Amino acid sequence: MSAAIGLRGVVKRYGATRALDEVTFEVGRGEMFGLIGSDGAGKTTAIRLMCGLLRADAGEVRTLGRDPVGEHHRITARVGYLSQRFSLYGDLTIDENIAFFAEVHGVGDYRRRRDQLLEMTQLAPFRARLADRLSGGMKQKLALVCTLVHEPELLLLDEPTTGVDPVSRREFWKLLSEFLAQGITILMSTPYLDEAERCTRVALLHEGRLLACDDPTTLRSAAGQMVPLEDVFVNLLAKQVAS
Ligand SMILES: Nc1ncnc2c1ncn2[C@@H]1O[C@H](COP(=O)(O)OP(=O)(O)O)[C@@H](O)[C@H]1O
Ligand SMILES: [Mg+2]
Repeated sequence: MSAAIGLRGVVKRYGATRALDEVTFEVGRGEMFGLIGSDGAGKTTAIRLMCGLLRADAGEVRTLGRDPVGEHHRITARVGYLSQRFSLYGDLTIDENIAFFAEVHGVGDYRRRRDQLLEMTQLAPFRARLADRLSGGMKQKLALVCTLVHEPELLLLDEPTTGVDPVSRREFWKLLSEFLAQGITILMSTPYLDEAERCTRVALLHEGRLLACDDPTTLRSAAGQMVPLEDVFVNLLAKQVAS
C-alpha cells in the first residue's frame, strides 16, 4: 500500500516568498506525524497542498496515493481537515454544528457516529449548548468531532492545540491516541516542540526548508547522547545559517 502522504521536491511560492522550498518527506499509514515549525515555516501551506486546496509550483504531492488537486473529489471523503482558523457556528448548538458538517460532507446517517464521538470527547451532556458558550478546550474538541463525522482515514490538523490550555491539550492528545488506535493516520502541525515527542515521526520545517525528518528519539540521540529536541532544532538552524 502506498504512503498516506508523499511530498517530493515540492516548491510553493507566493510572489517572491518561497513558502516551501524543495520539500520531500513521506507519512506512512497509521502514523502520528508532526509538522513542527514556528510562524512562517510553511506548515499551513504544506497541509493545504495535501488537501488539494493549493497546487504546487514544482514537485509532486500525493495524498492517499492520489493527486489531491486533479483527483480532489476522490479524496475529500477520506480526509478530515481542521484548518488553523476553523470556524464553528457560534449560534448553533453542538448537535447542530455536527449536523451541518455532516451535510457538507454528504453523510446521510451520521447519528450513530455522532453519538460515539460525543461519548469519546465527553461532550454528550452539552450537546444542546451553543458553540459560543463552550470553553476553548470544548470548542477544540467539537471542531475535531466535526472533522471526523464523515469517518475519514486521514486527519490533517493545522495547529489544533495552539492557544489551548495545558489540561485541554493533554485531553486532546489522549483523544488523538484513541483515533490512532482505531487505525486513522494523523498529521498535525504545531509550533510546540514538547508535542513533537508524542509523534511517531516529525518533520522540522523552517522558512520553507525541511531541516530534518525522523523519529524524535533518533533526532535527539544523534549526538551520541539524548539531548532535548529544542537543542536539536537550534543546532540544525545554526547549521543552516552557517551553510
Ligand atoms: N496567501 C499568501 N500570500 C502571500 N504569502 C503567503 C500566503 N500564505 C502564506 N504566505 C507566506 O508563506 C510563508 C509560509 O506561510 P505558512 O504556510 O502560513 O506558514 P506557517 O503555517 O508555518 O506559519 C510565510 O512567509 C507566509 O508569510
Ligand atoms: Mg499556519
